Amino acid sequence: MRVLIAGATGVLGSLLLPALLSDGHTVVGTTRHADRRRAILDAGGEPVAMDALDPASVAAAIAAARPDAIVHLLTDLSGRDWAGNARLRVEGTANLVDGALEAGVDRMIAESVSWRYEPGERPATEDEPAAVDPVTGGPVYAPVESLDRDLARMPHGTVLRYGLLYGAGTWYAPDGMLTREAGAGRVVATTDHTSWIHVDDAVAATVLALDWPAGAVNVVDDDPARLADWGPVLAERGGYAGDALELVAGAPGRAADNGLARSLGWSPSRPSWRDGLGLD
Ligand SMILES: NC(=O)c1ccc[n+]([C@@H]2O[C@H](COP(=O)([O-])OP(=O)(O)OC[C@H]3O[C@@H](n4cnc5c(N)ncnc54)[C@H](OP(=O)(O)O)[C@@H]3O)[C@@H](O)[C@H]2O)c1
Repeated sequence: MRVLIAGATGVLGSLLLPALLSDGHTVVGTTRHADRRRAILDAGGEPVAMDALDPASVAAAIAAARPDAIVHLLTDLSGRDWAGNARLRVEGTANLVDGALEAGVDRMIAESVSWRYEPGERPATEDEPAAVDPVTGGPVYAPVESLDRDLARMPHGTVLRYGLLYGAGTWYAPDGMLTREAGAGRVVATTDHTSWIHVDDAVAATVLALDWPAGAVNVVDDDPARLADWGPVLAERGGYAGDALELVAGAPGRAADNGLARSLGWSPSRPSWRDGLGLD
């Protein structure tokens, strides 16, 4: 296939590009930055400029790429810009889907998160409802749900609900921002209940997902965790040796079940975060 990676320079996109090439695909990768084109070229891809918040720019990139499939890995997380990330999920996804439909592209895979489910003890399967804010009655992760709705407008839209990413280039790498913070005695988690996924396993699932059915698929490891389990492990690996570790969870969250992804031929080469979190 000709595959357009929207977000080819991020932690997932830069690993996905060579993985798709070695699977025989031709890859076009987007970036907004002239100085990042070289990395895409050097990896064997074709760079194309695209600002996802500008519909004309999105349409031009899709027209230039002429893809059979688009992989949407757009996030705005390197600067921890939560508002910018939400805008990208809502406006960026809508622009990408509009552009794909206009150009006659049928297939899109998009990155989402595995902790968007109603809180509960049992790992969530894909059909479980989204977490609801008790005050507003609306979804807790509204931009993520907006992305789901946009992908449902595609003739063939697949949403990959990745667990928390760890591994090289992530916040939980040995030199990652959150490993260093944990080493200083403070672990701030997105959610209390968590599923993890190593970046290499997330990339492997994304390659396979080009042939997966439409709909949502959890891409998580086999070892659901709570902050009280993994926080101390990460802190120790970050160099913390004190006895006053602070653990802060932003929301209850939910672990996720990977049975559907397994039934589609994927399995994690890293079944448990315990073996690599904060290490590689
Ligand atoms: N599930 C998870 O836990 C999860 C998922 C993703 C990321 N993260 C964390 O977030 C950290 C940073 O992620 P990252 O390295 O992937 O960087 P990022 O800053 O989130 O950027 C990701 C990609 O989105 C593109 N992008 C951003 N805004 C865009 C826009 N307006 N238009 C077009 N493209 C846009 C970037 O391209 P250009 O800037 O080149 O244009 C880049 O290729 C990681 O280290 C990881 O730990 C976690």
